[in-house]
Amino acid sequence: MSINYVRYRPDLEQPFPNEEELTRQVVQAMLHANQAVAAKHRHGLRDAHAKSHGVLKGELRVLPNLPEHLAQGLFAEERTYPVILRLSTAPGDLRSDQVPVQRGFAVKVIGAPGPRAVDDGFTTQDFLLVNHPTLPFGNIAEYAKLQGLLEKQPGQSDQTLQRAGFAARTAAKVLEAAHRPLPPAVETLAAANNHILGETFHSMAAVRYGDYVAKISAAPKSSNVKALTGKKIEKRDGESALRRLVADFFGKQDAEYELRAQLCTDVEKMPIEDASKLWPEELSPHQPIAALSFPAQEPYSDERRRYADDVLSFNPWHALEAHRPLGSIMRSRRKAYPRSSDFRHGYNGINEQEPSSLDELPD
Ligand code: HEM
Repeated sequence: MSINYVRYRPDLEQPFPNEEELTRQVVQAMLHANQAVAAKHRHGLRDAHAKSHGVLKGELRVLPNLPEHLAQGLFAEERTYPVILRLSTAPGDLRSDQVPVQRGFAVKVIGAPGPRAVDDGFTTQDFLLVNHPTLPFGNIAEYAKLQGLLEKQPGQSDQTLQRAGFAARTAAKVLEAAHRPLPPAVETLAAANNHILGETFHSMAAVRYGDYVAKISAAPKSSNVKALTGKKIEKRDGESALRRLVADFFGKQDAEYELRAQLCTDVEKMPIEDASKLWPEELSPHQPIAALSFPAQEPYSDERRRYADDVLSFNPWHALEAHRPLGSIMRSRRKAYPRSSDFRHGYNGINEQEPSSLDELPD
């Protein structure tokens, strides 16, 4: 079957009405929440995905003999790159791992050659992925509404959030049984609380994929991480369950994930400006592009945690032009990430560093 992949053109992106002002409001609201959390902990944290569970060194191996539509940008040649992976949880505060919220899988590829999406002088290519395929609040106006909900969270207890998650999962089951769409607030709160290493992670929004356009995802590949898919976190595992599960796993075992690209084949059914729409796999499957492998290691020494949490920043705009982030959500992130990172580094009196070698990651 021959598939027509949509060719990248700058005018696939369309400015959202009042985009600049909405972005300013979101970034400002995030900063207020970020300041409140820093005052609570006397330490600056990320404004989202504050809690890390493990930081891994590994490598990304571009698969051999990729067809033309997949051999694009970073994936144009069969090569191996060093990577740093930071595993995290979505809120901008340190919550109990018993609260079922989205988990993050942030990959920093080091030494990526080629022109940059923005003139930052770096050689990193970051892929920020979350264990859900869509962003329910999929454009900047909808996201500004979500921000209102999130801003209330610093003042809420873990128990309140756990109850909201339970109510949302119950509502989601009822609506799904009736084949009714989930309201964005329900979809956001209804995450299942599973072992992080068995999850599949998504870019949610689109990026340029060389001559084409894609969403990126990472899925468990080796049988040991596949076996963890859907495995519930136990109550007895406690507030830092994920850190322990990740440390126990990588203390003894290697793991491999598959990095995949889902190329856009239809701009109406697979929109670029609305990240809330699931791109149908019948129109375009997730196709493997690289192997991500992580050897057994100690993933959370104090030095490593400090480096990943306090020194590093992951940012979708740490990118090659060939993988330019696309759509209003992605454009808003161009302002939001440096804002959060600058506040965190300034508050803690620590300089941000963007690595040019894996040796910079402490053991
Ligand atoms: C496409 C949807 C999105 C995905 C997949 C995503 C994913 C992530 C991930 C995985 C991290 C943690 C990175 C790390 O480990 O350091 C993160 C951090 C963050 N996200 Fe997002 N995010 C999305 C949308 C947004 C939006 C729309 C905003 C705001 C406009 C935002 C603001 C932030 C901020 C401020 C940080 C912390 C940055 C820092 O201090 O270094 N994200 N995001």
